[in-house]
Amino acid sequence: MTKMKTQCLAMLAAMPLLAMTVPVQAQSVIGSGVPASTAENSQERSIGFIEQVPATTALVILTHSAEVPDIAGLSAAERRSVESAIAAEGFEGKQNQSLKLRGIGERPLIMIVGAAKPDDKVPDWRAAAGSAIQKLMKEEAELTVVGAPDPAAMADAALGLALGQYRFDRYQYDVEKSPASHKITIAGAGASEAQTLWNGRYKHLAEGVRFVRDLQSEPASALYPQSFVERTRAAFAGISNVSIEILDEKAMRKLNMGAIVGVGQGSTRGSRMMIVSYRGASGPPLALAGKGITFDTGGISLKSNNGMWAMKADMSGAAAVMGATLSLAKSRAPVNVVAVAALAENMPGANAQRPGDIVRTYGGKTVEILSTDAEGRLVLADAVQYVADRYKPFALVDIATLTGSVGRALGNQYAGLFAREDNVADQLLNAGEKSGEHLWRLPLHPAYAKAVRSDIADVKNSGVTDAPGASAGAHFIGYFIDESLPWAHLDIAGVDWYNSARPLTPKGASGFGVRLLDQLARDWKAE
Ligand code: BES
Ligand code: MN
Ligand code: ZN
Repeated sequence: MTKMKTQCLAMLAAMPLLAMTVPVQAQSVIGSGVPASTAENSQERSIGFIEQVPATTALVILTHSAEVPDIAGLSAAERRSVESAIAAEGFEGKQNQSLKLRGIGERPLIMIVGAAKPDDKVPDWRAAAGSAIQKLMKEEAELTVVGAPDPAAMADAALGLALGQYRFDRYQYDVEKSPASHKITIAGAGASEAQTLWNGRYKHLAEGVRFVRDLQSEPASALYPQSFVERTRAAFAGISNVSIEILDEKAMRKLNMGAIVGVGQGSTRGSRMMIVSYRGASGPPLALAGKGITFDTGGISLKSNNGMWAMKADMSGAAAVMGATLSLAKSRAPVNVVAVAALAENMPGANAQRPGDIVRTYGGKTVEILSTDAEGRLVLADAVQYVADRYKPFALVDIATLTGSVGRALGNQYAGLFAREDNVADQLLNAGEKSGEHLWRLPLHPAYAKAVRSDIADVKNSGVTDAPGASAGAHFIGYFIDESLPWAHLDIAGVDWYNSARPLTPKGASGFGVRLLDQLARDWKAE
């Protein structure tokens, strides 16, 4: 025991009445200190490619018509059984159709899965494979997937399998978990070419998406600013051309980042700004900035409890910029990107900020806080100014679960896109089409820019009556971004979490933005 402590204890013993006023030790335990799980998610099935169909594995046949494709390795008897099942069930190869057949030959299962998109006859191998694997999560057998006609289609199917088989089960003790030891093999001509496509890009893209879904799914008891930082650091460990900068509260205070520090001041968990750069090319970077509220109670402007649990995913934008950068860095993409995560927990507390407070941001502009629940735009105000100032990007894209308003306007099939320039908007829209993460452009208007100005500070973060909610949020962020910097804002509040499964996404965390931003970074063309 140290001398200090001994003296202290002696003083306490001598003056029992003063014991109550002895300052408590700085908190060293986060939350209860009892982790709800020390397990990992159960292992996913490995994915590989092969030319020939093995004779005894479970077979998954993808087809976009009522025809059984040519499959070397399918016996004549197996083919006849499959054809008669197709005829009997009226199977046409449509995306949502599937047939499970058992007791044919030596295979434990033959499943036929439709691959034709509803609106046309073009096959979507990703979606077909993704929905197939979701139907086979509990299947105790090695799977062979056939029907994808060429190496590109085979690699697409592999991506669908990887995204569709996602599971978040590390907190489930008392359930039957999906079997892992049974691998998946995609069989067809050109297997080695497909393997090269997979190893070069899609494998890493799937890993980026998995990384994001894990962070989104984690409860806020486990995921707070510092643990986000640690998990992201671990994901990037050992990848070359990557550098990481972390700002803690003290550093941010020194840089006058009053907005992000203000949002986190009601929480016992310190705020952080995490910046990850990947240099796969020379020249200035593309900057990606993500909202990273690890839990959004609303703060003093407290939300109602209805659905508040979903605010554990209010860090989806920050996770998405890190997941996209992870995919780009692991696949050695020839691009230069810098991702910034603006991390804070928005809690009510004795030291929480209040409606009416005024904060100063990194560049000196001030904000009047009218609602502590409009916190995403606050953390981003500091993040976008910092990354523009320090990293001199050629363009900046921010992504955030920013407003309920965007979900009401667009539903859950499109994220909201805001851009000043058509060229920038078009690049984002194209990346959305190519990646399958779709965007819908919403308006920025000079009148809305005026609507976010404050009477006693430069701008106000809420209480905007003359602009729609999602546009007011976009204009607020845009106020901190120089007109000469190409910029787009993505509001993903409607698409970060799915209430029902989709072909590439089991119910829950979507990982939205990884595929989109990965595509955007690879394709970006300066005007
Ligand atoms: N994180 C929320 C937005 C949100 C809502 C995300 C629903 C996902 C689902 C955001 O911080 C918020 O509270 N926005 C307010 C803004 C308002 C106070 C100006 C909102 O949308 O009501
Ligand atoms: Mn909020
Ligand atoms: Zn929020």
